[in-house]
Amino acid sequence: MDTAAALDRAAKLDADDPVAQVRDRFLLPEGVVYLDGNSLGALPAAVPEAVRDAVERQWGRDLITSWNANDWWDAPRRVGARVAQLVGAQPDELLVADSTSANLFKALVAAARLRPSRDTMVIEPGNFPADLYIAESVSELLGLRLVRVEPGSIGAVLDDDVAVVSFSQVDYRTGRAHDMAGITRAVHDMGGLAVWDLSHSAGALPVDLGGCDVDLAVGCTYKYLNGGPGSPAYVMVARRHQDAVRSPLTGWTGHARPFAMEETYEPAPGIDRMRNGTPSMLSLLALEAALTVFDGVSMNDVRAKSLSLTSFFLDLADEVLAPLGFEPVTPRAPDERGSQVSLRHPSAYGVVQALLARRVIGDYREPDLVRLGFAPLYVRHVDVVVAVSEMAAVVAAGEQDDPQYAVRTTVT
Ligand SMILES: Cc1ncc(COP(=O)(O)O)c(C=O)c1O
Repeated sequence: MDTAAALDRAAKLDADDPVAQVRDRFLLPEGVVYLDGNSLGALPAAVPEAVRDAVERQWGRDLITSWNANDWWDAPRRVGARVAQLVGAQPDELLVADSTSANLFKALVAAARLRPSRDTMVIEPGNFPADLYIAESVSELLGLRLVRVEPGSIGAVLDDDVAVVSFSQVDYRTGRAHDMAGITRAVHDMGGLAVWDLSHSAGALPVDLGGCDVDLAVGCTYKYLNGGPGSPAYVMVARRHQDAVRSPLTGWTGHARPFAMEETYEPAPGIDRMRNGTPSMLSLLALEAALTVFDGVSMNDVRAKSLSLTSFFLDLADEVLAPLGFEPVTPRAPDERGSQVSLRHPSAYGVVQALLARRVIGDYREPDLVRLGFAPLYVRHVDVVVAVSEMAAVVAAGEQDDPQYAVRTTVT
């Protein structure tokens, strides 16, 4: 690689980047190239002060009055309305609560109950394990037949036994983006319901739940939404289903009159019926502050930046990394990818560890993938050049085979 020419090209692309200034809304460590925002988003500068205020003033001084005085009770709806804007839902269709896994459980059971005469649930074989395991449990509990099929081949299994189809919009491993509109239409044509996991798409590309007519959706907020480690997830139920859905997790905060303390459950109207237990207020307020990084930002600009980053990386990878044994598995067609690039390499784990020592942070996914996330709000084209040259340097020096990098950490 002609590094000087690549840096020159990167500088030009960064100068033309319409969302370049958004990087200043984050606190990023000096000298680190962070390519793991698809796993844990970087820290937005507004968060520390918001958390301090939540702890010292709201909790410390206002104590329990904060549920009313600081609107804690309505926070799942209020923050949900902000997330809704980013995923093309109506403000009253989305609630921030629980984990993605718990929300998926609620959404899958709720969706299957809307199609009681059907006995099949369809999922994709390579989805994130949480989605696979939750779907297994739901099918077992409800006595559903579980069919696994690649999203692109959904037509082969759709029939009028299918109650629910549940896929991820962007694949966590390969970064492949699926046709949410087309698949949802096909599912509806056969009378089924579509439940989507947006964990790897929300905040990285324009998501149009309303335009795609999606029935229910879930997603996490700690990746491209930058909510922080373990920040609460969200669940979306389209308005047309809200009066009919029944969540299987009938926690008291989803009751129609939670403070009446009645002895039997009656679901709250609207999206509030998807509430469960008491919200994690500190995390929720951190997330609310984190979402301000999107203020005034066009998701079309974010998508353009994301595709520019991933295309630039793929071009350099062809030239520099392919001869060193790296094979991109992320689709080349822009419409078919999210905001990450994954590359197969026989020593992928060692490569990721050696890169970490060189202050380039990506991650490893089984069985042989180096996974690099290009979070468009703060990753620059110059970071792409650094990442490619460090990857090349690692392999040229054989660092990936150093025994110290063979030891598996708990979290990979
Ligand atoms: C597609 C997908 N679903 C779910 C999860 C995780 O769910 P939870 O937030 O419950 O850990 C992840 C985490 O990376 C994911 O990638």
